[in-house]
Amino acid sequence: MYNLLKGKRGIIFGALDSKSIAWKVAERAHEEGAKFVLTNAPVALRLGTISELAEKTGSIVIPADATSMMDLEDLIDKSMEILGGKIDFVLHSIGMSVNVRRGNHYTNQDYNFTKTGWDVSALSFHRLMSMLYKKDAMSEWGSIVALTYMAAQRVFPDYNDMADNKAYLESVARSFGYFFGRDKKVRVNTISQSPTVTTAGSGVKGFDGFLAFADKMSPLGNASALECADYTISLFSDLTKKVTLQNLFHDGGFSNMGVSTAIMDEFMKKEISEELGVEEPKKSTKK
Ligand SMILES: NC(=O)c1ccc[n+]([C@@H]2O[C@H](COP(=O)([O-])OP(=O)(O)OC[C@H]3O[C@@H](n4cnc5c(N)ncnc54)[C@H](O)[C@@H]3O)[C@@H](O)[C@H]2O)c1
Repeated sequence: MYNLLKGKRGIIFGALDSKSIAWKVAERAHEEGAKFVLTNAPVALRLGTISELAEKTGSIVIPADATSMMDLEDLIDKSMEILGGKIDFVLHSIGMSVNVRRGNHYTNQDYNFTKTGWDVSALSFHRLMSMLYKKDAMSEWGSIVALTYMAAQRVFPDYNDMADNKAYLESVARSFGYFFGRDKKVRVNTISQSPTVTTAGSGVKGFDGFLAFADKMSPLGNASALECADYTISLFSDLTKKVTLQNLFHDGGFSNMGVSTAIMDEFMKKEISEELGVEEPKKSTKK
């Protein structure tokens, strides 16, 4: 480990269980010498296993629903008190779509569900930054990161209304990031991560097939939750002080691909074997 976050204070949202990306970020931040507060929605604290993580990393858990300004205010006040000063880094790792959960098709949404999903997944990022900004809670050269997905830019039909939520989230990162940079010397970025096996990720229809597709399409393969945590730590560290207003792809190269040999091989083999009426040949391992 490199002591990249030695002496830094943080708030980490979204660690539900050991598969959560936020969980890995917390473990890595601890290894790099940071002190932080863990937070999640009260219901998630009851269902998840966050207390294990708190014990392991010597952290306090403060419940906060990211859609409640009162909870956010309380969280930020208590965090500064417990950690003994302003905050150096914040991770927003929150996502939830009620339409996805209920199996509503994108073309036939329940708009009350749409509003709830948007509030939780996207507006919460504005709410959080607004509270941090008003309270002047961030240290100079601090860093705020939110996690996103490429469906904000390209069509992934089963990602449903989360695609729109992520587009909003990324826009908020730029718009608020301007004011945070200009007024407080704080950077704001989003990391656009590969599909990853977690509770939120696995909720997307056809997730397993998509995971395999993305892996075959990406020259470096899918990025894991731990690799995402490593990248996040670099953005919290002093090594990336002038990186801001960016949506940073962390996806093994997927976002710049058109097609890969592995995908074409699979497709051609399937076409030919179907045409000949024979069993599909062995799968290629080449990208
Ligand atoms: N898993 C993937 O494939 C993938 C890919 C790209 C981006 N992401 C993003 O990464 C982030 C983390 O997701 P994950 O994959 O680790 O799944 P996860 O299910 O472990 O994390 C989602 C978290 O959001 C929290 N949350 C939900 N409602 C909340 C509320 N009202 N207030 C506070 N917290 C709330 C949940 O309790 C949970 O801890 C999300 O923004 C997700 O969209 C995930």
